[in-house]
Amino acid sequence: MGFVPTMGALHAGHLALVREAKTRGSFVVVSIFVNPTQFGPNEDLTLYPRDLASDLARLEPLGVSAVFAPQPAEIYEAGEDTRVHVGRVAEPLCGSIRRGHFDGVATVVAKLFNLVGPSVAVFGQKDYQQLLVIRRMARDLFAPIEIVGLPTVREPDGLAMSSRNAFLSPDERSRALAVARGLSRAAVAFASGERRARVLEATAREPIERVASSIDYADVRDADTLAAIEDLTGPRALLAVACRIGATRLIDNVVLGVDAPPLAALAG
Ligand code: PAJ
Repeated sequence: MGFVPTMGALHAGHLALVREAKTRGSFVVVSIFVNPTQFGPNEDLTLYPRDLASDLARLEPLGVSAVFAPQPAEIYEAGEDTRVHVGRVAEPLCGSIRRGHFDGVATVVAKLFNLVGPSVAVFGQKDYQQLLVIRRMARDLFAPIEIVGLPTVREPDGLAMSSRNAFLSPDERSRALAVARGLSRAAVAFASGERRARVLEATAREPIERVASSIDYADVRDADTLAAIEDLTGPRALLAVACRIGATRLIDNVVLGVDAPPLAALAG
């Protein structure tokens, strides 16, 4: 059984995960659940896009075996009182900005794993740190589930697909491309031999700073542990960005040394 957990507002990135799950299992389950415990008090839980009917219509042609769309009170029953906390890999980046976020993610994914009982679960590298957190959790709790990570699916111009892109005005949508531009410039610099983490970060930041209302981070980190690094000595490293375009928080990343530059114009 293959399993793809989602929060709905499905786009082509989600559908790529479903197609991958279909190649790995004869029975494929997709969950749609906007998980309240992974949202902070001042975040967009109530605004998060919800449209079950159109999500089901998107899944229909893919031949999914079952969709699991529980209510919050079913996942968080009265009296439930357990949280899954993942350590070091959940601390930096989004873990330090969104306090408690990864406890909510690890908890709901553990609950969903137990309810659904898959043998394979598919996640996107768009949420790179989340993928590492889930791998750590599944391994540490001896979940008998293979965790598969898939590359980020992008719009033709390079913008990473996200349910939150729906919040962008047309002007913000064009400004948002600066994220892919910054990541691409850093990927090109890495390919030309630049190995200083601070220089690669500054290269990524420059176009984003021009258009973002704020930048949470633009960090080069060890791709396995997320530990901070100065000079890149290995063949690969993570460059991850989180920023706000207008009021919308966007995240994106590239694995330097592995991923092609996301910006269509720089990829060739
Ligand atoms: P959601 O943001 O709906 O994403 C569901 C899955 O789709 C995640 O594995 C995410 O990494 C993947 N995904 C999102 N955008 C993608 C893109 N452009 N390309 C490839 N994959 C993409 O992530 C969550 O929901 C939640 O935190 C969840 C794991 C469901 C727990 O609540």
